[in-house]
Amino acid sequence: MKRMLSGIKPTGQLHLGNYIGALKHFVEYQDEYEMLAFIANLHCITMPQDPSELQKNLTDCVALYLACGLDPNKATIFLQTDVKSHAQLGYIMCCHTYLGELNRMTQFKDKMAKNETNLTGGLYTYPSLMAADILIYDADYVPVGEDQKQHVELTRDLAERFNHKYGDLFKVPEPLVSKVGARIMSLSDPSKKMSKSDDSDKGCIYLLDDLKVARKKVMSAVTDSLANVKYDVVNQPGISNLMQIYSSLSNDLPFEEIEKEFAGKGYGEFKKAVADKVCETLEIIQNRYKEIIDSNIIETTLQQGAKKASEIADKKLDDVQKALGMEII
Ligand code: TYM
Repeated sequence: MKRMLSGIKPTGQLHLGNYIGALKHFVEYQDEYEMLAFIANLHCITMPQDPSELQKNLTDCVALYLACGLDPNKATIFLQTDVKSHAQLGYIMCCHTYLGELNRMTQFKDKMAKNETNLTGGLYTYPSLMAADILIYDADYVPVGEDQKQHVELTRDLAERFNHKYGDLFKVPEPLVSKVGARIMSLSDPSKKMSKSDDSDKGCIYLLDDLKVARKKVMSAVTDSLANVKYDVVNQPGISNLMQIYSSLSNDLPFEEIEKEFAGKGYGEFKKAVADKVCETLEIIQNRYKEIIDSNIIETTLQQGAKKASEIADKKLDDVQKALGMEII
């Protein structure tokens, strides 16, 4: 069985972009692949965090993994810091990543361009740690949204660099980016990605949003004056984004079908249909979340996951250190 790995960095509440671009696919793939899904809490602290808020977000993230349908009996679900080898291999990766490569990473470049102050070394070297997260499990596939593809490409380069220098150490992983929903845009500004670090909450639907609030966000989504439900990212980015959401929450219903369904109908009617789909999805997730958050399933899931993941990761770290001559044998 091929192995798949992915993670989410819960620096805030999980949102619809995380669900559509990533989490939904983890659930779909768990029957077909050996799935490892982790919570990237080392990556969280690359930007300043309030400790009590971070702790709540981590717990919510595990609860949401389960509420969205990840099954701990099929998938290995764990906290990154519970598998200590990630950080150690991350350091080794860092020592093999060129500054030029890190300088090209768009997430860091975007932050630099915004003149954000107090950016840290952790943020800069984050892609090397992400490479370690993936390579330490010899993952075949990495399902991610569009924005993370560049990091997986760097991971591939690093795997090849190690294999060339030290012999066959790592599997070279492939990013899996879905055709629909790999880049869900902000509802209030469809030129920007839906993101937890949005300046305003209006453009971002959180998985735990009150349903009325979520509905209002969809109904107030920025569109255009062309009054035609058509997939045209250049001229109708807002409508195209809503179509991505609608399609993805309707088993990837083709855009032509959506165009047909709403031909001659107003944007109000289309937005209502999108809002219904979003609320339907959120309601199911939130009902399961409420059962999970008060149970001990989170603790047992993480214990079981950390044990399984550590067995694979610790062995790989040992192999790497031996290959690099770092151990006295
Ligand atoms: P993060 O936490 O920013 O995002 C988690 C996943 O959600 C996807 N995503 C989106 N997809 C579609 N539309 C959006 N608006 C949207 N926003 C986010 C992301 O592409 C991602 O798949 N560095 C990673 C976490 C990580 C990781 C890893 C992932 C750490 N190590 C190893 C895979 C493998 C991150 O910050 O994702």
